[in-house]
Amino acid sequence: MDRGLFITFEGADGCGKTTQLNMLSEYLKEKGFDVVVTREPGAKGLGEKLREILLNYEGVVSDRCEAFLFLADRAQHVDVIVKPAVGLGKIVLCDRHTDSTVAYQGYGRGQDIDRINLLNNIATDGMKPDLTFVFDIDVETSQQRVGSEKDRMESAGMDFHNRVRQGYLKLAENEPNRIKVIDAKKSIPDIHDEVVEIIESFLSA
Ligand code: TYD
Repeated sequence: MDRGLFITFEGADGCGKTTQLNMLSEYLKEKGFDVVVTREPGAKGLGEKLREILLNYEGVVSDRCEAFLFLADRAQHVDVIVKPAVGLGKIVLCDRHTDSTVAYQGYGRGQDIDRINLLNNIATDGMKPDLTFVFDIDVETSQQRVGSEKDRMESAGMDFHNRVRQGYLKLAENEPNRIKVIDAKKSIPDIHDEVVEIIESFLSA
């Protein structure tokens, strides 16, 4: 491939996307692709420091500040990791990206969606994922899977997480070609099969 691919994995906390991302990574590597696994917030380097603040800072974090910290992490991540790897023909699998900010800061925190879209566009310098998986799960199940040790975002409450879920579904409704919704309550192997099927048809298109 001249230009690689940028594939993002999205969904509620505890939806199982990281497991699926790693399984897909193994699958693609076995097929001979050069794969990079990365995440937001908190890829290597500066991102790790931003992640620590975003998930563990115990003082007041205003909603706008929170959005800007995720966006700062994204700008650094796109410039330093994603764009160079895609430019070298690699397949980048990224755990969370722009749709998380729309779902969490936009729908969850109630910030203006158009403004979040604009800021996302600035943070990515216009780069968009080629394909996105949203692992959909009801809030009760996702909260049970997360357990009692919750980070700052996971502690935001049921109403918040319900809005996040609806936000993701709305995003998928608006962009059905890019965003594929997967029922995250199915078994891990069944979900993997579905992911592979989607990837195979995407790669052969
Ligand atoms: P993480 O531990 O990576 O959660 P998960 O394993 O579920 O992906 O924590 C990331 C948290 O940050 C998660 O609760 C979602 C949230 N988040 C946002 O609110 N906005 C964003 O733009 C991003 C990238 C993540």
